[in-house]
Amino acid sequence: MSERVEKLIEKMTLEEKARQLTQVNAVVIHAEIAAEVTGAQQGIEICREDAAGIGSVLNFDTASEAIAIQDEYLNASPHAIPLIFMQDVVHGYRTIFPIPLAIGCSFDPALAEECAKMSAVEAKYGGTHVTFSPMVDLVRDARWGRVMETTGEDVFLNCEMGRAFVRGYHEGGILCCVKHFAAYGAAEAGRDYNTTDVSVRNLKEYYLPAYRACVEEGADLVMSSFNLLNGIPVNGHRELLVDTLRDEWGFDGVLISDYGAVTEMIVHGYLESEKECAETAIRNGLDMEMMSPTYIRHLPELVKEGKVSQKLVDESLRRVLEMKEKAGLFENRYGAADPQKAEEVSLSPEHRAIARRAAVRSAVLLKNEGVLPLSEDREFALAGPFAEEKYILGNWACRGRAEEAVSIKEGLESALGRNLVSATGCGKGISETCVSDIPAGLAKLSGINTVIACIGEPSDNSGEGASRADISIPPAQAALVKALKEAGHSVVAVIFGGRPQVLTEIEPYCDAILYVWQPGTEGGNAVADLLLGKEEPTARLSMSFPRAVGQCPLYYNSFNTGRPRIPDTLKNSMYVSAYRDVCNAPLYPFGYGLGYTDWHIGGLRLSSDVLEAGGSIRVSARLKNTGSRAGSALVQLYIRDRFASVVRPVKELKGFCRVFLAAGTEEDVAFTLSEEMLRFYTASGEYGSEAGKFDVWIGLDSSTDLSAEFTLVK
Ligand code: NOJ
Repeated sequence: MSERVEKLIEKMTLEEKARQLTQVNAVVIHAEIAAEVTGAQQGIEICREDAAGIGSVLNFDTASEAIAIQDEYLNASPHAIPLIFMQDVVHGYRTIFPIPLAIGCSFDPALAEECAKMSAVEAKYGGTHVTFSPMVDLVRDARWGRVMETTGEDVFLNCEMGRAFVRGYHEGGILCCVKHFAAYGAAEAGRDYNTTDVSVRNLKEYYLPAYRACVEEGADLVMSSFNLLNGIPVNGHRELLVDTLRDEWGFDGVLISDYGAVTEMIVHGYLESEKECAETAIRNGLDMEMMSPTYIRHLPELVKEGKVSQKLVDESLRRVLEMKEKAGLFENRYGAADPQKAEEVSLSPEHRAIARRAAVRSAVLLKNEGVLPLSEDREFALAGPFAEEKYILGNWACRGRAEEAVSIKEGLESALGRNLVSATGCGKGISETCVSDIPAGLAKLSGINTVIACIGEPSDNSGEGASRADISIPPAQAALVKALKEAGHSVVAVIFGGRPQVLTEIEPYCDAILYVWQPGTEGGNAVADLLLGKEEPTARLSMSFPRAVGQCPLYYNSFNTGRPRIPDTLKNSMYVSAYRDVCNAPLYPFGYGLGYTDWHIGGLRLSSDVLEAGGSIRVSARLKNTGSRAGSALVQLYIRDRFASVVRPVKELKGFCRVFLAAGTEEDVAFTLSEEMLRFYTASGEYGSEAGKFDVWIGLDSSTDLSAEFTLVK
């Protein structure tokens, strides 16, 4: 502890300490609007009076606003402790990068790092000291609106990506907060804020590692989640917050609650009063309470009554003050906040170029019946409600502005240097059923062979509080796609979404499908690059695409069951683990995606079929670019432990690498497999490997059947 922190802790009164451990939304402390907002906005339980002397502000607007708030507070503060400003800089600040789920599909941690770094550079000049990112919740249910904020369904990939985000934020000059600890992504039925019930083994094996990876990479804060976890609201979950996070992982940074989540322990039916909430949260090492007033109102009294020790409060205070020191705020109260610099760096050509590259690298080509790439001199037109849409930034777009984004039409027109016919055809809402504009749209497109149908879900239909029970393409848009095909057009679907959507109904009517997620500011330019073949689609799915919503939750690393359906056909449906109406396999599996060339992978070889503890084996295969263009393949390594004290999934991703090959050339691709990569939580609770037989696969997606067998000897 520094001398400064020690002295402050000595000097401060209990009341001052409790305030320092509280964070409020900027709207609460704006005199003019506070009263109105406080009363009106659901979830705001804290008023301007409560907020005097608080420790932190979230979700403010500009650098000037942050500076003004800082001055006002600091001038009134008896101990000159600066506020720390936090914000959801999730996939960009003003320049918006693709949503994190899309970045996950790039399988490119270096790209994630670069995007995070650029986001941090813009955000710090905008007055942000801490971002509430990365979000590394493991997700298996596409109905959940927040799948857009994470990098997908795989623990290995999420760890790699989470670490990359942490590094990037630090390189860009801000602190970061990993969230939502823990298992928030396992919300039952994909309904946001819903209960999670996850076995301890699954928690340790799948849900917790990515948070831990971020903590190990140096994440400065951890945000606890809203959900009930195995019967206990997370802020009341001592095992998770104290035993695991603090004691086992040694995390000594700030643990902050989610928005209003401390008092939600009452609504959950766990605690009866605000005072109990404060006592429970502080005892569990929750250092900062976001947007609820229990610490301010009850901590001093709890200490005076002897229910909470002074030492515990001081511990939390130390962490909060040390975080402020780390952010350099005692030397410079504003941090890097600088309105002019914020303007200068935001949307700079360099940032736009990275946003374009990131959007190119995260769009997944799901289908291509020889129609893509489009040749520039071919005649084509646009259809669908997203052709001219500029709000393609995705949820959590921070200070991104739709008017600064490039629509598909703008991107294509600027690449081609000519105007394109565009017919909206229908509305974009997810419940839109009105098809009356389709005939007029078709008339406008008549005579044009290829139509790029820009469809999907609007940005605000994913993200927080935006779960969907039906995740198929909205009815009017599906009707448009069918009508286009039936009118004889060659249909290239460009699909927007914050989640995997069910494409089963429209897939047969599309000649090509490019899934662009919510691509961000440079979306239109990136899509033009891809459609016109200036760039190759290189992304692969980091989340399975269901055939039917009823398959959710759906993930590749599932279990075989005692009655697997093999072959996976509808005819084979009697007394096997299956649906009568759809196959078990997803429409598009994890790891899947096409490029503009063709590949063959074969000749799997092991340097030895025995792996000894402490040693390693080399697993290699021959990859050939059999197409007529240069391209890059994402080669993936999977394993299965055939028999174990705890049954292992049918496949687990253990590595991936990208290989660039010129047309017609081939190369060996090799991975090193070691005993550590085979570890799991065994029946005795140990993290270790078990001797015996394993399968290993190399392939271009998780459905690969290119396998070999080896034995682990211990
Ligand atoms: C609630 C969200 O769950 C969380 O992700 C976010 O960081 C906070 N609100 C602050 O905006």
